[in-house]
Amino acid sequence: MKRFRWFLLGSAASVAAYWLVRYLRPEHSPLVLNQAVVIITGASSGIGRAYALAFARRGARVVLAARRAELLEEVRSEIATYAADVLCVPTDVNDDTQLEHLVQAVLERYGRIDILINNAGVVVQGMLQNHDPKRVREMANTNLAAAINLARLCLTPMLAQRSGVIMNVCSVGGAVPNASMPAYAATKAGLIAFSSALRRQLEGTGVRVVTVLPAYTDTDMLPPAIQDYVRGIGLSVDTPHYVAEHTIDELLKGEQEIWFGGFTTRLFAWLERHLPFVSTLVQRSLITPEAIALLEQHTNELDVHRAR
Ligand SMILES: NC(=O)c1ccc[n+]([C@@H]2O[C@H](COP(=O)([O-])OP(=O)(O)OC[C@H]3O[C@@H](n4cnc5c(N)ncnc54)[C@H](OP(=O)(O)O)[C@@H]3O)[C@@H](O)[C@H]2O)c1
Repeated sequence: MKRFRWFLLGSAASVAAYWLVRYLRPEHSPLVLNQAVVIITGASSGIGRAYALAFARRGARVVLAARRAELLEEVRSEIATYAADVLCVPTDVNDDTQLEHLVQAVLERYGRIDILINNAGVVVQGMLQNHDPKRVREMANTNLAAAINLARLCLTPMLAQRSGVIMNVCSVGGAVPNASMPAYAATKAGLIAFSSALRRQLEGTGVRVVTVLPAYTDTDMLPPAIQDYVRGIGLSVDTPHYVAEHTIDELLKGEQEIWFGGFTTRLFAWLERHLPFVSTLVQRSLITPEAIALLEQHTNELDVHRAR
């Protein structure tokens, strides 16, 4: 009887100790990002802009990079309440000299880089035979080559610090490629593969690689007509705010892959991997020729808008 009481007491103490350790884990505090130096590419709009706000709210020192300098200044004033220390570096990620200048400017100002968010991206979608070859090259550079080159530049200081996070904003479309965007899907699949390979290469160095896979998100990339279509086929459209907040929650938990789109997305990914013919059947019913035409029209409209 006495032994049994000691056993019960011992078990209760172990459970309490376990709970206390879990509760006090530093990851639970939003302040772990305090003073972290975070480079965000594509910070002028959409998800990148939401990242800027979310990281600034947690006391990080954010570095905003994108081509449209006037929008970066807008973001700076938007987050001024949270972050006094914001560095705007207008950057075209397709220019290697500008990438080098970005990293140099950050190191000169802060002496370190804690998190790189490779978020800048463009999309070309529709029927492949109608793609503009110049836009395809621009997309492959922006979505993939530029992200790789910027990660390369940030690695030297991160390896010297023995800490850092390289976060690549990919897409569910890279893991579950659909017929509406073969070239875009290829760039995002490439970025997913790059993230996995680099993660393995960096094992034991203290530098983490995180893959972010947003699903449909309400940004300039996804105009209202397409959002309506997406909702019409029963899928959800996330807000950039949700993508940013959920990313940070998962980042702090130590996740390597951060998925969006809920259960449906995970189911699609599972089907794609284990039952590809079922995945094809499901997609055939969702991604119709009309939907592809709608997406192609949007790409053309974006091109006209950019040319102005
Ligand atoms: N929206 C979605 O449904 C969705 C879904 C999955 C994944 N994603 C990914 O999420 C990321 C963010 O996209 P978003 O949805 O937020 O679209 P967005 O609002 O159009 O933002 C794209 C950002 O990329 C920047 N950018 C484009 N080309 C650039 C270049 N050459 N140099 C520097 N910056 C460049 C743009 O800034 P400037 O024009 O000022 O340079 C802009 O800030 C992208 O990688 C996208 O592929 C989006």
